[in-house]
Formats: sequence, structure tokens, C-alpha cells
Amino acid sequence: MRILITAGGTREYIDPVRFISNASSGRMGCALARAALKVGHEVMFIVAPTDQKPPSTAKIVNVETAARMFEAVKKHFSRCDCLIMAAAVADYTPARPAKTKIRKTGEPLTVELKATTDILKWAGKHKKKNQIVIGFALEDKNLRARAEKKLNEKNLDMIVVNTSDAIGAEKSSVQIKIPGDEWLKLPRASKAVIAGKIVSMAGSLLST
Ligand code: CTP
Repeated sequence: MRILITAGGTREYIDPVRFISNASSGRMGCALARAALKVGHEVMFIVAPTDQKPPSTAKIVNVETAARMFEAVKKHFSRCDCLIMAAAVADYTPARPAKTKIRKTGEPLTVELKATTDILKWAGKHKKKNQIVIGFALEDKNLRARAEKKLNEKNLDMIVVNTSDAIGAEKSSVQIKIPGDEWLKLPRASKAVIAGKIVSMAGSLLST
């Protein structure tokens, strides 16, 4: 398979030196890239800032913002059999980032945010018959109901759900749903083990 994987947490700039981001470590995305390479898949890896070292045998595109990640996904999507959106993409970005460093005035400061493009939703809408799209969801309550809604609304082939304690952790416990199948609850395991399972499930989906 040719797999397009995104990882890391995007940065949305308020001014040239300050940004809004999130606590994603990029571990799951890197684990997915390693797992895919290990079984012989070709990996195009689109990486937002992460404290992980991306595998050197992947083709790597470094990006910072949600907008740049969207451009990179659009550029490479048509060539891939499978897209796995493991990146923590910002849902909002400053509407009018300042061109020069914002000076403090001592007064409250309001930063207006505008929605970013939902890359996963775009991919679900534009995928061809022979392509599969896998999304992640981070849920704190009504986990299965909310994730299933995303699976359907974004036209995904698989959704992997975890809770916020997975952020930055070495181990995680995830639940996986494929349309028409029962929920699969994986026992708590290292992200490497979970990534291996996701990659093998993606392979099965493509060969059916
Ligand atoms: N994602 C994306 N583009 C965005 C935001 C998120 O492609 N602008 C992808 C992430 O890579 C991940 C999934 O969507 O695969 C995460 O969605 P999540 O943040 O859990 O849900 P949202 O659909 O953003 O809804 P909400 O934040 O309201 O739960």
C-alpha cells in the first residue's frame, strides 16, 4: 500500500513569534509510520511539530499550520491507497494574525479565531472507490456515539477513538469502528502495538 500519514500538532500563529497549539506528541503518528514501513508499505509522512524522530525511510513533508497540512494532504492524496489522519489539527486559527510582534499594553487582549478546514472531512468527500480514509477522535464522554457520528458524517472507513489520557503517553487504549462492524476494544498496549493493528486492519480493508 501507499499510505499517507499525518502526525503532530499544528501551530496557528497569532503573530510572527506566538502560536496556539495542542498537547499532541506525535507518538501515534510516528508509530503508525514505523508500523507501515515495517510491513513493506510506502509511507508519505506529513508531520506537524512533534518531539518524536520520524522514521528516516518515510518520505517526509514538514508543515506547521493546519492550512499547510491541508495543502500537503491535497497534493499527495490522489496517489495514496490509504490516508490516516493521526495529526492533531487545530480546529481554529487566528482570523487576522498580526504581521509584527504584538506589544503588551496591560489591557485584556482578544484574539478572534476562525474555523480551519476539516481535512479528514475533505478526504472522506473526495476519496475514490479504491481509497480508504481513517480518522482519529479524542472523546471525553459518549465516546462511541460521538465517534460513530464522525465516522458517518466524514464518510470514513475506520475511526480510532481514544481519551485525553492518551496524549503524550507511551501506552493507550483505543476503540475502533469500521462501518457495518461491531466496535473493537483493544486492550491497553503500547502505541507501537496499536499502530501495528491499525495498519493490518487497513490492509484487510483494502484487500476486500
Ligand atoms: N482533523 C482534520 N482537520 C481538522 C481537524 C481535525 O483532519 N481541521 C482530523 C484529525 O486529524 C483527526 C480527527 O479529525 O483524525 C479528529 O477529530 P476531532 O478533533 O476528534 O473531532 P472534530 O471533528 O474536530 O470534532 P470536535 O473537536 O468537535 O470533537
